[in-house]
Formats: sequence, structure tokens, C-alpha cells
Amino acid sequence: MDQVFTFGKPVDDEMFTDREAESVRLKANFESGINTFIISPRRWGKTSLVKKVIRESDKNGAIYVFADVFKTKTPYEFCETLGNAILKQTSSAFEELVSNAQKLLGRIHVGVNLSPDQANPLKLRFGIEDDHKSIEDILMLPQRIAEKKKTAIVVCIDEFQQIADYEDSLTFQKELRTIWQHQSNVSYCLFGSKRHMMEGLFDDETKPFYKFGDILYLKRIPLSYWIAFISKRFSSAGKTITDEQIERICTTVDYHSSYVQQLSWYVYLFSDKKVTEEDIDKGIKELIDQNTALFESRTEGLSPLQMRMLLAVSEGIHDGFSSSGVIKKYKLGSSAAAIATKKALLEKGLVFNEDKRIQLSDPVLGLWMIL
Ligand SMILES: Nc1ncnc2c1ncn2[C@@H]1O[C@H](COP(=O)(O)OP(=O)(O)OP(=O)(O)O)[C@@H](O)[C@H]1O
Ligand SMILES: [Mg+2]
Repeated sequence: MDQVFTFGKPVDDEMFTDREAESVRLKANFESGINTFIISPRRWGKTSLVKKVIRESDKNGAIYVFADVFKTKTPYEFCETLGNAILKQTSSAFEELVSNAQKLLGRIHVGVNLSPDQANPLKLRFGIEDDHKSIEDILMLPQRIAEKKKTAIVVCIDEFQQIADYEDSLTFQKELRTIWQHQSNVSYCLFGSKRHMMEGLFDDETKPFYKFGDILYLKRIPLSYWIAFISKRFSSAGKTITDEQIERICTTVDYHSSYVQQLSWYVYLFSDKKVTEEDIDKGIKELIDQNTALFESRTEGLSPLQMRMLLAVSEGIHDGFSSSGVIKKYKLGSSAAAIATKKALLEKGLVFNEDKRIQLSDPVLGLWMIL
């Protein structure tokens, strides 16, 4: 049977809906060499969007490089991941890769490991540690390749928020900015979750990435698209669901893309030919059950004050945390304590600021909190 819904990993083709305006904007940025930051909470669809726009781009126009730096913990690992992606994705044959490595990386020794991973059988190792000059050489690679090939290169870096966790991150950020801003044939698309961290890279003029490029805040996919998408998925599998029921699914998970697909999948599993309200009830319970262990560990280290503020947000309070009514109801102590608690929750990425309203990064955590 064809897959009915997909969640937790990037989607394409019939599993992908909307992102029309964002695709147009991103494509225009790519084609015009404009740097872009894309920010959204986890699992809203950043990677899916970027991969889709790359897939649909005119391959004669520019070379696209995609790197995921999620696993990197140091500038060296960042450069290793980036260097791998750049050398592999800009070369049409192994010979070209070797020649580029030799000619453009000069004195850096590049080793090749063959890995059993079928999707990614080749892993390049760069013979450097935290050597400054070598790091610079690797960062210069895309520009050198672009000049050599007489083309533009767009480098897309997923999970870019990781760099904020590196030791002495600010120095590395400054180095990246200094090198990147002089690369006239290369543009960068930097995206990631943890809005607080991502914004921390460019939110005032003291930050290295201040005014580095266009900033795209991903929005929720609207109801009309979900209705068309979900009803089609159900009907192609021989089942029916009403528009109102789809709306209930979407509002339950606050239009969080991945959860909309996950809850739809449970409802699909539990339903007969025609979806009932009980099927949705069961689906919601399943969604919470699936995540309970995760939520327990995620909230384990929170202070009682932080837990109470999280409960307040879960119960629908989105602003006015230092007002006396909210402080009293949720025992938040004082106005100063409420402000500090909000800051801590933002820094932990448990909540985010949307149009001056505090929202839960994970809406199902909210359902679990108010059980
Ligand atoms: N355009 C879309 N149409 C339909 N579903 C989507 C769309 N974008 C994302 N999703 C849903 O969200 C899930 C996560 O998508 P994706 O991995 O692209 O998000 P992300 O923001 O990159 O996540 P992460 O923060 O984990 O990197 C997908 O598996 C899918 O269920
Ligand atoms: Mg992603």
C-alpha cells in the first residue's frame, strides 16, 4: 500500500503541500545570490522546503550544495562536514573531486574512507585539527570552485543553530562572516530550529550575522491546504473525513506540520470507512502516549516556577505573564521572577515568541501538561 502520511522526516511530492509563497521567495533569493536565514520551531518543514526548492531549481543556473551540521560540535567538524558536501556535490566524477581537493586545498591532506552507508558511501577526512589557516582554506572552497567552474554556488546549511553551542562560538561566527561576505559567487541559506539561538546569531549590530541576508520565518500551513491534502490522502485510501474533522486535527496540534500528519495517520489507522469523533479522540490519546516518555525527560530538570509557567502557556496564556492576575493564578512569584522564567523557557527552546505572544514549541507537550 502507498504511504498515507509521513512525519518526522523531510517530505516531498504527494506528501508535500503549500509553501508556495516561501518557495517563490527562496527560489528568487537563490537565483539572485541573496543569503537567507530560515527559522521555525522544530518539525514545521524547513528541510522539506529547502530540498524542494533545490530540486525544482534550474540546474543550469547554479550548483546547489546541501550540508547538515546537526552532529557537529566544533568548528573543525563543521568544516569537515561542509568540505565533504562541497567537494562531493560540486564534482561530477571522482576524478574531479580528487583534482579539486588537490588543487584547491593545497597543503591539506584529504583522505577517503569508504563507508557501508549506501546513500553516502564516500567520506572525506581532512588532515587538520583546529588549525586556523586550514579551516579558512576549507571555507574558501566554494568560492574557488565557483570561480573555476564559472558558475554560482548556493550552499544550504541545515541545523545551523548548532554553531551557537560551539566553544568560543562568537569567534567562529565572526570568521565565517568575514570569509563568506567576500565570496562574490557564493550565497548561503542557513536554517535551523531553536529560534532563540538562531536569532541570537544576528539580532543586533554586535552580532556577526547582523544584516547578513533575508530572514524568512516559516509560518503554519493554513487550513485550506490541509483540508485539500488530508481529504485527498484519506480518499485515495478509500476513506472519508469531513472538513470539520480536519480542522479539529489541525487546531489540536496548533497546525504543527509534523503533528498534523502524525495525528492524521493515527486517525486513519483507528477509523473505518468514515472517520468519527471517537477516532480522533483515540488518535489524540495515542499521540500523547507516544510522546509521554519524551516529555517527561524534557521537563525533568525544570524548576517548579518554570513548570507552572509552561502550564500557563499550555492553558492558553500567551502574554501578560508579569500581570498580577497571572502571577497569582500560576504562583509565579514576582514580576521579575516571571520575566526571568520566561527568558529561561525561551532559551531552552520550550517556547518561542510569535508576534509578541509566547507559544509552545511543542503543542503536544501542552496537551500532556493539562491532562
Ligand atoms: N510542506 C509540507 N507539507 C506537508 N507536511 C509537511 C510539510 N513540511 C513539513 N511537513 C511535515 O513535517 C515533518 C517534518 O518536516 P521537516 O523535516 O522538513 O521539518 P524541519 O523543520 O526541517 O524539522 P527539524 O526541525 O526536525 O529539522 C514532515 O515529516 C511532515 O510530516
Ligand atoms: Mg530539518
